[in-house]
Amino acid sequence: MKNRVAVLHGVNLDALERRPPEVYGGLSLTLLEQKISQFADELGLDARFFQTNHEGEFVEELHRSADYADGLILNPGAWTHYAWALRDAVEVAGLPAVEIHLSDPDSREEWRHLSVLADVVVARVKGQGVDGYRTALGHIKAAM
Ligand code: DQA
Repeated sequence: MKNRVAVLHGVNLDALERRPPEVYGGLSLTLLEQKISQFADELGLDARFFQTNHEGEFVEELHRSADYADGLILNPGAWTHYAWALRDAVEVAGLPAVEIHLSDPDSREEWRHLSVLADVVVARVKGQGVDGYRTALGHIKAAM
């Protein structure tokens, strides 16, 4: 059974607890990862985590991901809205991928409305806070 999920966090997600709590919930990335691990356990999934603030490192992790994962959960942060290289790297990875955002970018500033990943992901989850990761894991489990 395919159950290995790579959860990749992008730019500024390492500073989650210092970002506006009314938008992101005020929790740290460590706490978020604990919650995701718990959701993954409940679904029989094995979650592995990665975070970087460097776009090229995110791309290289995507290139590597098929070596250790069966599916991807991606929150690229602001790269979502302009970093087209990430879209191509998801294609290179060749794994089912789900895009996730804690907030709902579509109800925020205009520049957040575009997602470079929209056509290479099996689902997009947004605006559900931490619980959105449970939803995202459910989608990836179905797609793997
Ligand atoms: C985010 C939404 C993005 O627009 C923003 O740049 C982030 C976080 C989210 O999880 O809500 O850094 O991806």
